[in-house]
Amino acid sequence: RGDGLVDPWGRAATDLRVSLTDRCNLRCTYCMPAEGLPWAPDESVLTDAEVARLVRVAVERLGVREVRFTGGEPLLRRGLEGIVAATAALRTPDGAPVTTALTTNALGLDKRARALAAAGLGRVNVSLDSLQPARFAAITRRDRLADVLAGLRAARDAGLGPVKVNTVLVRGVNDDEAVPLLAWALEHGYHLRFIEQMPLGPAGSWDRGDLVTAGEILDALTAVFDLVPEPVDARGGAPAETWTVRGRPGATVGVIGSVTRPFCGACDRTRLTADGQVRSCLFAREERDLRGLLRGGADDDAVADAWRAAMWGKKPGHGIDDVGFLQPARTMSAIGG
Ligand code: GTP
Ligand code: 5AD
Ligand code: SF4
Repeated sequence: RGDGLVDPWGRAATDLRVSLTDRCNLRCTYCMPAEGLPWAPDESVLTDAEVARLVRVAVERLGVREVRFTGGEPLLRRGLEGIVAATAALRTPDGAPVTTALTTNALGLDKRARALAAAGLGRVNVSLDSLQPARFAAITRRDRLADVLAGLRAARDAGLGPVKVNTVLVRGVNDDEAVPLLAWALEHGYHLRFIEQMPLGPAGSWDRGDLVTAGEILDALTAVFDLVPEPVDARGGAPAETWTVRGRPGATVGVIGSVTRPFCGACDRTRLTADGQVRSCLFAREERDLRGLLRGGADDDAVADAWRAAMWGKKPGHGIDDVGFLQPARTMSAIGG
């Protein structure tokens, strides 16, 4: 025992992404239908204590060093501050603290950023696809741009940084905003990353031919900004390729080219869904039920063994380009972003 979460392709998962709810208070068109989704019933969602226990097993026995909380929208989880505090108190077997982070739409973050920082949260990544109120409302189906901007400011002021902003560009909707978004991010000190849309949303929401690609985004940015690539080895298992911006000390901009520049070979992730299933990959077709094990009285050894077994089933890559590719039955919000 004491082995980490290795897969047959030689990768070890050290980055745990925990979804705390499948619900969200926005309805981004590429993620969810307007009416929402059939939410997981309350009794199937892990309790705060169950989440804390699984995170502890991952950190103390399975080699996990970074824990990111996602959703759905993790701020909808009442016990978030307590879960963060329990996680931040953990130490790896060699005595190192755990890095904690949150991926959020930032609604309500203005009121919780300080409490989250006090609980030990390290940093936040905030999703924001447009700076134009009408477009923001069209994409998210909610008129809440001002709340997101307030949440971002609060996160920065609470020291939850470096604050990253995640943007998905959608053809014909906000694909002309790469340059204005970067100018805005530079002005406010946020680290902007553009994300290629993946086939993980509602049926019919993804079209390879319509994808706004990393290459296209970089062409638009380099027409205006002088970008200097950051060394690849600085990337680790992180999905973003990053650049510094000449003349703007400390600033970076990134592109997460999951589709056209896949980085699966360096993947260091394992995922836990809000209903307690381990997924070895966003695109995994199989899940391992840890909730049932916990509730059946399994000890930490048994939980750790099941988690290792789940990761042993990890595929070498996402397979989006394979003939006959089928997207997973769960969409992004139910898997965890
Ligand atoms: P840091 O780089 O540590 O700040 O976090 P991150 O980029 O891993 O986390 P975040 O939740 O902000 O993810 C940003 C986007 O990257 C997500 O919306 C996904 O589109 C993409 N992404 C995250 N994890 C994975 C992954 O494991 N595989 C792929 N293909 N894409 C991912
Ligand atoms: N492809 C890429 N990114 C997505 N997100 C949601 N759905 C998709 C998708 N299909 C992003 C959100 C948010 C993060 C959690 O995931 O925009 O930034
Ligand atoms: Fe890792 Fe799967 Fe994402 Fe590739 S698609 S980076 S293997 S989680």
